[in-house]
Amino acid sequence: MYLQFNLGLWITLLFFASSQATWPGPGHVIDNDTLASKTGSEGDGEVWLSVLGKVYNVTEGRRFYGEGGSYSIFAAKDASGYFASGKFDEESAWAVEYDSLSKSALSDLKHWVEFYEKKDAYPQIGVMDGIFYDSNGYQTKLRTRLCKAMTEGNKVNILTKTLRSLRRLALLVKANIFK
Ligand code: HEM
Repeated sequence: MYLQFNLGLWITLLFFASSQATWPGPGHVIDNDTLASKTGSEGDGEVWLSVLGKVYNVTEGRRFYGEGGSYSIFAAKDASGYFASGKFDEESAWAVEYDSLSKSALSDLKHWVEFYEKKDAYPQIGVMDGIFYDSNGYQTKLRTRLCKAMTEGNKVNILTKTLRSLRRLALLVKANIFK
């Protein structure tokens, strides 16, 4: 009985610990108003931006994203629409339909998703409550579909490149055989 109680307690504790370690989760969710204040010109002077709902502190890149910087339009919001459209006007960014992105738009978006993911100077500080993460910090179905589409695009690219190399190799072998 004692052992059984102990085992139950341990399982509960382990479950609790693992759920606390899950990223992202409650506590890391950033609302639109907080993000909107992080332009670099208000309060603590920090600049934040979001890409596919992940929020990064890009204060180190203030010369790009701060007031007067060439990429200041990306600051204090989710900039995915700009990255997917490759355009710098708000209208184009808002008009982006994430469920029907072209291959090139997906590839551009993927490029910037990876850029921020890899850049040590821009730590991820949370996720944005919006279309890519819900208010509890869990990835939405839209984001899951987009991530899958970006990975599929990558697989197709690798396959195309491999097939192209094989074709080149076959032509080379053929040319040498019939020389
Ligand atoms: C004619 C087209 C473009 C030119 C000439 C250009 C030029 C540049 C240059 C020179 C840098 C590096 C600045 C530096 O390290 O000092 C840079 C960085 C960057 N560009 Fe562009 N760019 C162009 C288009 C775009 C587009 C279409 C986007 C996205 C919609 C974009 C987003 C960025 C971002 C996010 C950075 C990184 C800033 C950082 O390091 O945090 N650029 N660009």
